[in-house]
Amino acid sequence: MKMAPMPLSLFFLFLFTSLFSIQAHSQLITSSPSLPSPLAPALFVIGDSTVDCGTNNHLLTLARADRPPYGRDFDTGLPTGRFSNGRVVVDYLAVHLGLPFVRPYLGLNGKVEELVQGVNYASAGAGVIFASGSDLGMHISLKKQMQQISDTYERLELGLGEVAAADLFAKSVFYISIGTNDFIHYYFRNTTSVRSLYLPWEFNQLLVETIQHELKNLYNLNVRKVVIMGVAPIGCSPHYLWEYNSVYGECVEEINNMIVQLNFAMIYMVHKLNMELDGAMFTFCDVFEASMDILRNRDRYGFLSTTDACCGMGKYGGMIMCLFPEMACKNATNHVWWDEYHPTDAVNRILADNVWSSKHAEMCYPMNLQNMTTNKT
Ligand SMILES: *[C@@H]1O[C@H](CO)[C@@H](O)[C@H](O)[C@H]1NC(C)=O
Ligand SMILES: *[C@@H]1O[C@H](CO)[C@@H](O)[C@H](O)[C@H]1NC(C)=O
Ligand SMILES: *[C@@H]1O[C@H](CO)[C@@H](O)[C@H](O)[C@H]1NC(C)=O
Repeated sequence: MKMAPMPLSLFFLFLFTSLFSIQAHSQLITSSPSLPSPLAPALFVIGDSTVDCGTNNHLLTLARADRPPYGRDFDTGLPTGRFSNGRVVVDYLAVHLGLPFVRPYLGLNGKVEELVQGVNYASAGAGVIFASGSDLGMHISLKKQMQQISDTYERLELGLGEVAAADLFAKSVFYISIGTNDFIHYYFRNTTSVRSLYLPWEFNQLLVETIQHELKNLYNLNVRKVVIMGVAPIGCSPHYLWEYNSVYGECVEEINNMIVQLNFAMIYMVHKLNMELDGAMFTFCDVFEASMDILRNRDRYGFLSTTDACCGMGKYGGMIMCLFPEMACKNATNHVWWDEYHPTDAVNRILADNVWSSKHAEMCYPMNLQNMTTNKT
């Protein structure tokens, strides 16, 4: 394996810890302006390509974003494995929380210092259902990601002690963004005739029950604060506009209707868990509604194109995936879609601001992340 330069997040961690000690020191002497301390000790991320920050760079798979033009508008201007021209939602949330960017679990060597400010387990191609996405190659499934979280917890217990590890998990934010591939790379592909086995609502029920099961597993690991994102309107993504021969850019209703029903069932499930599990602060953030608000009001948000991928080929840029820089538009900032399935950095920023403080639209029920992390309980 090649030696990588010092990762950016490690740099931030280093910068932060050194600034922190300077601050602690200076407070003894003067009342110099104090640095904000993080609103949560750590951010842990579970999910798929919507939040993969480099997991799949370590795997044999087609679902990788470790080549240009991916990352061209990122802080470093380099591809990292994020499926975006720049940042993904959890990068913006890390900044809001006062934390460094969260690094992929597969890139770590397992030392406790690398785990205490959070880990990203998300893997492109992963679905709620084990079989989803296997047409793309390797990925870390939801089940496997949960296993990695248990392993992380054990290492923290060994390194920090049981009480401190439990406290760290209880105060940290967990972010879950998964489900897209259960539609794209399973149900709508009719893999293993799944559509003959499950009606749409039955399939949604299966997804909701599986996520509920994993939320309870997290709760049993002392996790209390969880953001669950739901699924975005992929029926409006360039790929499906192309595949379903959309004429004017109208979205594929069959797909979106099923996602709306899934999100509806999810919000109810999350509400129920909050009542059932003592101390649970779970919130459901409806990425479908927030994204539709952007698509319907593109002028207000400053977008020119809501149908075409900045990087891709064919009608809507949805026929061939983003493969090299020459396929990309000049300015991604005025595009909603970066590639055939993923939004641009500009959209991710809006979504993150909504999750954080409901800035542009109310999106999270029963509370936004700012409420979750500033309320003392
Ligand atoms: C899914 O596949 C099965 C078996 O190949 C087929 O009988 C069924 O009609 C397909 N369903 C849809 C909706 O395409
Ligand atoms: C890209 O588009 C945005 C939004 O329309 C605009 O503000 C910005 O100036 C553009 N950048 C370039 C380099 O053209
Ligand atoms: C939740 O956050 C919103 C906006 O960020 C704020 O206006 C509201 O007062 C907060 N509510 C609680 C209960 O903290």
